[in-house]
Amino acid sequence: MSSLLLLPGDGIGPEVTAEVRRVAERLTNDLVIEERPFGGASYDAYGTPLTDETLAAAKASDAVLKGPIGGPKWDGATQRHLRPEAGLLALRAGMEVFANLRPAICFESLADASTLKREVIEGVDMMIVRELTGGVYFGQPRGIEAMPDGGRRGVDTQVYTTHEIERVARVAFELARGRRNKVTSAEKSNVMETGLLWREVVTELHARDYADVTLEHMLADNTAMQLVRAPRQFDVIVTDNLFGDILSDEAAQLTGSLGMLPSASLGAPGKPGLFEPIHGSAPDIAGRGWANPLSTILSFEMALRWSLGRPDLADRLSGAVKAALDGGARTRDLGGSMSTTEMADAVLAGL
Ligand code: IPM
Ligand code: MG
Repeated sequence: MSSLLLLPGDGIGPEVTAEVRRVAERLTNDLVIEERPFGGASYDAYGTPLTDETLAAAKASDAVLKGPIGGPKWDGATQRHLRPEAGLLALRAGMEVFANLRPAICFESLADASTLKREVIEGVDMMIVRELTGGVYFGQPRGIEAMPDGGRRGVDTQVYTTHEIERVARVAFELARGRRNKVTSAEKSNVMETGLLWREVVTELHARDYADVTLEHMLADNTAMQLVRAPRQFDVIVTDNLFGDILSDEAAQLTGSLGMLPSASLGAPGKPGLFEPIHGSAPDIAGRGWANPLSTILSFEMALRWSLGRPDLADRLSGAVKAALDGGARTRDLGGSMSTTEMADAVLAGL
């Protein structure tokens, strides 16, 4: 028996994660699913976006599947350290999931759903490996302080150690070996000290342990441009927390819809992974049954593959998703009219 902690989250989160439950129940009797409020829902219930009990449950499970979090309800009045986003950062840090895998794959049948031309995005199949527990998201000092002249000063700190860079780069090189054997390392070594260190550490690790993999260094701004100019050139991209946040949203749009993309966040081998769709909680359509559940269903697929030791079930599930899309299943974000449940039904039909 394996255990999955399900954190439905906010907005469309409960709708899309409910479909994962149905998919999981169809696929296996070997999974115990526990559910807990998280993000804004947890704040409303317990006054904090992540309770100690939920973090302990996350660490004790085999995998955590989390829906999107946040929304206007918690934007204004809620203290910053109690906002849903703070809960997410605390969960990532608490679970020590330092490598965030964000695949961007252009499904053939969706090539016309993107805002980019078919000939540019056809065949895109890349994996962004985003460092997730360091960098400017966590660096100290940070804060907004008053200055003597009456103005204010906002400070964020970008900081990386060799250890943090090396362990995430290792994940990228290992992944590349099972793919097209190429890693693009994106940073701003032309202006940032952390960028320079990043380039040095990746270069050295490559020479020492991964000389068989093709390594390319690319400035992060150029990477943003190359992603829309010629995205097929990329296999694995490894980058820091902030650049990875930005580049992965950009890569998502290459695939047609943000509603399609899953992610896996992994820590040390044997530790539970955290799986989440990369889209937000879409408060504007929450409760209407319109949301595309595929990003969350594919996040479950990644959980089966990376944390639950069931690549066989993962293959079946990704096959069923592809079949549903090939068969014309489309939610509104993909230009169709199916409801969340109808899209999940189409996947279930393929299982
Ligand atoms: C993401 C999101 C989060 C991030 C937010 C919600 C804190 O944008 O997972 O990409 O910035 O990491
Ligand atoms: Mg983001």
